[in-house]
Amino acid sequence: DDPEKLAEFQAKIDADIKVEPRDWMPEGYRKTLIRQIGQHAHSEIVGQLPEGNWITRAPTLERKMILLAKVQDEAGHGLYLYAAAETLGVSRDELTEMLLDGRMKYSSIFNYPTLNWADIGAVGWLVDGAAIMNQVPLQRTSYGPYSRAMIRICKEESFHQRQGYDIMMKMAQGTEAQKKMAQDALNRLWYPSLMMFGPSDAESVHSTQNMAWKIKMNTNDELRQKFVDQTVPQAEYLGLTIPDENLKWNEDKGGYDYSDPDWTEFFNVLKGNGPCNTDRLEARNKAWDDGAWVRDGLMAHAEKKRAAKTA
Ligand code: 3HC
Repeated sequence: DDPEKLAEFQAKIDADIKVEPRDWMPEGYRKTLIRQIGQHAHSEIVGQLPEGNWITRAPTLERKMILLAKVQDEAGHGLYLYAAAETLGVSRDELTEMLLDGRMKYSSIFNYPTLNWADIGAVGWLVDGAAIMNQVPLQRTSYGPYSRAMIRICKEESFHQRQGYDIMMKMAQGTEAQKKMAQDALNRLWYPSLMMFGPSDAESVHSTQNMAWKIKMNTNDELRQKFVDQTVPQAEYLGLTIPDENLKWNEDKGGYDYSDPDWTEFFNVLKGNGPCNTDRLEARNKAWDDGAWVRDGLMAHAEKKRAAKTA
């Protein structure tokens, strides 16, 4: 890229002026945005699977309606994000193809199973809690369409987390068996939730450049730390124990010291060897194949309407 244009572009970023689709942008900026927004959108869509699995098994009609609303919200979040990615010159079909053939990622957390109803509470509380921690700063990201999609998404996310925490309260303050289920869900989902913030800063590939371009507003470890500091008191209120014997308040840093997730497990899940990777991609491939007749019908109808208009 032409150094003058690059300098002008960086000055624009530093002045917090939003980059819009028709503006000049470095090829690397476009590429890394397609990667991040596309994978963010994939995470929303694949994220519907673990929760969708429990809509028919919700313990009450009210819980079923809440979960249905949340899963529908996630589909909408995917739509806003695919639409934001399309403004960068990639089609939604291309992005879907790259998800289905494994060339693009989605958040590692969705490769873990939801084994019982307490997991649905822990997913809302921890996974949506982590997602909010990561998405709130992204409302100020430099790319206009992404920032506006984030503002809309963040408005809905707090309901997602609250309903999850409400399930955890019900169970943690319920029978002994329910409390045991809530603790077991926390034990299984704690470290995978920490992994949602990405590898440690030292291992992060994109952080430096993406923070210079204000695509990423905080480092992975900063947000992970904020998430731990916010979540520990919430676990204490529930009377549940965070599964980390090194967890300790550190007065000097004004935050908790905590154990890192198992990074070998993290990179293994990213490589496709998590508990549910195969199921998730099979489910998305099946949905794509099963939906072909709907897409063909819509295209044929659009073609007929277009032909009628021009006749
Ligand atoms: N799962 C899968 N891949 C991950 C990951 C995770 N938890 N964390 C990092 N990675 C990947 C990165 O994508 C990158 O691989 P790539 O070059 O093939 O894309 C590699 O690991 C190195 O990580 P980096 O830290 O260098 O990557 P980033 O700078 O992109 O940081 C991120 C990763 C923090 C997830 C960042 O991409 C981001 O903030 N994305 C937007 C938010 C997002 O996607 N959140 C996912 C959850 S959305 C959600 O949970 C929906 C909610 O409604 C439940």
